[in-house]
Amino acid sequence: MDLLPWAQSLAEQLLAQELPRRWAHTQGVGYLAEVLAGIPALGDDAELLAAAVWLHDIGYAPGLADTGMHQLDGARHLRDTEKANPRLCALIAHHTYADIEARHRDLHAVLEAEFPPIPGLLADALTYCDVSTTPDGELTNAKDRLTEIFARYAPGSIVYETMTEATPLIFESVARISALMSTCL
Ligand SMILES: [Fe+2]
Repeated sequence: MDLLPWAQSLAEQLLAQELPRRWAHTQGVGYLAEVLAGIPALGDDAELLAAAVWLHDIGYAPGLADTGMHQLDGARHLRDTEKANPRLCALIAHHTYADIEARHRDLHAVLEAEFPPIPGLLADALTYCDVSTTPDGELTNAKDRLTEIFARYAPGSIVYETMTEATPLIFESVARISALMSTCL
């Protein structure tokens, strides 16, 4: 089975009915992955990126949510139930600087032991897609997206503190991807 149609179908199956807003976000992020596929440096990994983008939030799905970390829950489902490619699982497990959230939830050792991170272009690209799409699937920019996240969570909450720490790293990822995209124009 081709990786991308499989990923799209699995994401739809897990999110579309039960979590329609999350599904809308996923579809928007999926559109951006198509745009990023034109970055020459991605090479043969363009389809892997697209599959990761479509599947990055499946850990929110009822039945999969377990540890409080949707990144880890989604990756475990892909590894244990879907027997997915280990690189795909690792990208989901670590997406959008999940290692920071894992530290705040005392899950960092678990996350790193189960899914060795894959830093670099794929992680940057996944972060770029995630923070450039609103919860409703519209295009946005990282600054507005982070403002929206900070407005939803109280200072002191795990998400607020995680995102405070992740913000400079997210902007660095976005800058690296934006620079690569500008060379494709
Ligand atoms: Fe997302």
